Amino acid sequence: PAEEPIRQYYFMAKCREWVRNFEREKGRFPTACVTTFGCQMNARDSEKLSGILEQAGYRLTEDENADFVIFNTCTVRDNANQRVYGRLGELNGYKRRNPDMKIALCGCMMQEPAVIEKLKKSYSFIDLIFGTHNIYKFAELLYASFRQEEMCSFGQKGMIIDIWKDTDKIVEDLPVERKYPFKSGINIMFGCNNFCSYCIVPYVRGRERSRRPEDILREVEGLVGEGYKDITLLGQNVNSYDGGVRFPELLQRIDAIPGDFRIRFMTSHPKDCTQELLDVMARCPKVARHLHLPVQSGSDRVLGEMNRRYTTAKYLDLVAYAKKKMPDLSLTSDIIVGFPGETREDFQQTLDLVREVKYTALYTFLYSRRSGTKAVSFPDPVPPEEKSRWFQELLEVQGKIGEGYMESQVGSIFRVLVEGPGKGEGMLASRNDQNVIVEFPGPAELAGSFAQVEITSAKNWALMGRLTGQGEAR
Ligand code: SAH
Ligand code: SF4
Ligand code: F3S
Repeated sequence: PAEEPIRQYYFMAKCREWVRNFEREKGRFPTACVTTFGCQMNARDSEKLSGILEQAGYRLTEDENADFVIFNTCTVRDNANQRVYGRLGELNGYKRRNPDMKIALCGCMMQEPAVIEKLKKSYSFIDLIFGTHNIYKFAELLYASFRQEEMCSFGQKGMIIDIWKDTDKIVEDLPVERKYPFKSGINIMFGCNNFCSYCIVPYVRGRERSRRPEDILREVEGLVGEGYKDITLLGQNVNSYDGGVRFPELLQRIDAIPGDFRIRFMTSHPKDCTQELLDVMARCPKVARHLHLPVQSGSDRVLGEMNRRYTTAKYLDLVAYAKKKMPDLSLTSDIIVGFPGETREDFQQTLDLVREVKYTALYTFLYSRRSGTKAVSFPDPVPPEEKSRWFQELLEVQGKIGEGYMESQVGSIFRVLVEGPGKGEGMLASRNDQNVIVEFPGPAELAGSFAQVEITSAKNWALMGRLTGQGEAR
């Protein structure tokens, strides 16, 4: 069949035949392991890969010593790539002992031609490679790798490589195997058009494409019907969602879906974050009181060089408005330390901004050169040791602010969604609306449901509390 997704279901059925043969020959089902690197988008894609593997008849496992292993890779910073190469070495060891094992790679790193060259040259034990734009074709590629084996039973069998430069396609209704039964991310859009000068994502994820609102609403309704309680709308910049309606309207429509659940979204780019969006957040009871608004730097000069297209003044105005509208809002952010040409003065302005905003949590990154991006050609005179010192300094400043935030929450009562066992004996781990981890003693059966908890003490990684009810009110 030529039409998607029917074509892919056809190949899933073909794969199932192959799996049945495997089972007949070996007396057991083949196992498959999906390992995710990178962001929530990748985690979401991995759920699609798992869904297809499951449909094909594989038994899913977390153990990488499996019959089929796929790494869904990330390339946003160089250390993400290095981890993949390291882990591939381990897989090769497993494969030597299990010659039937198949190894596949997909995800953002595969969209870089230099990576493919390196894999072809030095990692010839890999069976299948595809990219971010044709992940919907996974069943077809998996089947091709079985056929490849049949066709090449004499001599060296080759790697199947299928990478596309870009796509305007969105294929709906493929199987998914969601990681949790109570919380899930869902894509509202794919790709990014922003080209921040340090960032490789637009090159590996392609141009922006938005899903149709009716497809999104149908998916959310389905999840709510299945009992999901926490749904995160995913996009590199959800504020540029354009599926006929814009993001604030979409958010309102999702909020209007009947049921007891909460809505999160990420990521919101400050240049497109509007008062209208913040008003909608404040008005919609299901939208969580958490805003991840990555600032990247507190220096207007650096923001300009980063091509972020907002100023710190505009950012701080947004933050002030958001806090006025939602006093219980939790703000988090991403910051890059050591962007090419960043001076001590620029960095000082970042520290000042962090002190002023008082984030609940910060995700901090040392600048990493990504080939193909604009910033690669910028002069970068600050030595790495100096950048590391600044990085430490930022961690210390935020460490105190984060502690202060956690302390200030003692005595509050939150509605939390219980996720499962906590760190301590008999403890449950949960998250409040603000996305802060809350641990409290309670029965394991609460997993997957809302509860009301009073905060009794604070640690730097979590709030500790006691159960006060199985909470309706927020
Ligand atoms: N779309 C999101 C971010 C996706 S990448 C946004 O625009 O906010 C997640 C974070 O990784 C970015 O916010 C940035 O802080 C960091 N990052 C991206 N490229 C980087 C690089 N080359 N070096 C260091 N950090 C980087
Ligand atoms: Fe990268 Fe900027 Fe796009 Fe975020 S908005 S993915 S940082 S280019
Ligand atoms: Fe990494 Fe790709 Fe996400 S590069 S951060 S997995 S979009």
